Amino acid sequence: MTSPVQSAKHPFAVTIDGPAASGKSSTARMVAEQIGARHVDSGALYRAVTAARLREGDDATLWTEGSVLHAAQRVSFRPGTTTFLANIDGEDCEDEIRGDAVTALVSLVAKMNHVRLWVNEQVRALSEAHDVVADGRDMGTVVFPDAGLKIWLVALPTERARRRLLQRGGGEPTAEALEAETDALETRDLRDSEQTQPAPDAVWVDTTGITQTEQVARIVALAAERRA
Ligand code: DC
Repeated sequence: MTSPVQSAKHPFAVTIDGPAASGKSSTARMVAEQIGARHVDSGALYRAVTAARLREGDDATLWTEGSVLHAAQRVSFRPGTTTFLANIDGEDCEDEIRGDAVTALVSLVAKMNHVRLWVNEQVRALSEAHDVVADGRDMGTVVFPDAGLKIWLVALPTERARRRLLQRGGGEPTAEALEAETDALETRDLRDSEQTQPAPDAVWVDTTGITQTEQVARIVALAAERRA
């Protein structure tokens, strides 16, 4: 007979890290759906904290770490079917956290050490009772150093820019729009570079030139192998 200790199942974690617009969140959501895990988007937590602080005043030169952490207390998470959704004051904030005002200030908030500790604590708490696919920048290095599978998702900057523009609608982008978006992405890469590092044991997946279906299938196959 198996003892209760031996049969206790530790939740399985897949981490998907990488630079901005490498497709982490959409890939993580689809992988989570296919392997029956929950998706945790850690970037959404940094965004929700930034949005909560923005609601209290938008002069970011006055944002102390303490005031940002105070605003973080207004953020909570609601389990959706396969993902956790961030709420501010108990309300859905998905559009607000994806807006330009939040995007412009979120890197500043993500550099605050105590905010990072707070976010990491939330991510770990969300994954205590579930298998998870967690995406972000430091999921494999800091939050889940023992994850069953770590993915480092990359794509050429122009490819990431093109996908981001297509996602916003309006069809195939012009050369000028593509160049401007590539520059913006490279600036963000630089701002976030400190916390955006591959774990030494991560599997690199370069998505330039492969379809999302292919990349998801590859990660799902790797997850199945590791789980077995
Ligand atoms: O992936 P994203 O654009 O939603 O991330 C929002 C910001 O949060 C971005 O500046 C990178 C930062 N971030 C981070 O520092 N660590 C994470 N684990 C996730 C996101």
